[in-house]
Amino acid sequence: MTDMIALVPAAGSGSRFGAPSPKQYLQLNGHPLMWHTLATLAAVPAISRVVVVVSPHDEWFDDFEWDLPKLEVLRVGGACRAESVANGLAALDCAADDWVLVHDAARCCLSVAAVERLIAALADHPVGGLLALPVPDTVKRADAEGHVAATVPRNGLWLAQTPQMFRAGLLARALTTGAAADITDEASAIEKLGLRPLLVEGDAQNFKVTYPRDLALAKAILAARGAF
Ligand code: CTP
Ligand code: MG
Repeated sequence: MTDMIALVPAAGSGSRFGAPSPKQYLQLNGHPLMWHTLATLAAVPAISRVVVVVSPHDEWFDDFEWDLPKLEVLRVGGACRAESVANGLAALDCAADDWVLVHDAARCCLSVAAVERLIAALADHPVGGLLALPVPDTVKRADAEGHVAATVPRNGLWLAQTPQMFRAGLLARALTTGAAADITDEASAIEKLGLRPLLVEGDAQNFKVTYPRDLALAKAILAARGAF
């Protein structure tokens, strides 16, 4: 029986958000922001472990009462997201064919239903895949002065989200092939091996809190759910 493990990189500094502490620790509806992320992953019955990767220099994690089932912390975060994920994978102590669902700590409005859709779609898949959203708007390419240079057909374009779900052994190999700083998501590392991850439709609520203006929307979504 293979395990299904959620791996949550949370070693970023939140430079675009610009708060005194990293955005994953900001208070949101009575909990640190990433508590909501971890609680959703822990609430998925098929997931047996929820492993959060923080920086070795993290000063905040221990200040909070997380009080969540399945939770483990690894203090092995790296200089970029891909390095944090690769270090976490190396420290995980899991089997090569275990499934790993990598999910951004800052995507705190993830729903259990979306995770279960991803897991169901990939049950018999040889490679793995990711939640993603078909681009809903008309897409423009800008020139150097900020004018429209072209309208790009949106047909076939998707916005990558997380979780991104791959076998632990394959993902570790993908992330250590090539420079970590050039890897913006797990799927792109898998693609570089010549493999084709499956796109599974996510939802717009699963956005990444990046700027201060994003917090009001996250608050409203979580409050409307009422569960946490
Ligand atoms: N992350 C990480 N290790 C890093 C950088 C990022 O684990 N060295 C994590 C972040 O904590 C976050 C996720 O990767 O949960 C997505 O990254 P992003 O939203 O870019 O967060 P930050 O890098 O913290 O933000 P910024 O880019 O604005 O500095
Ligand atoms: Mg970043």
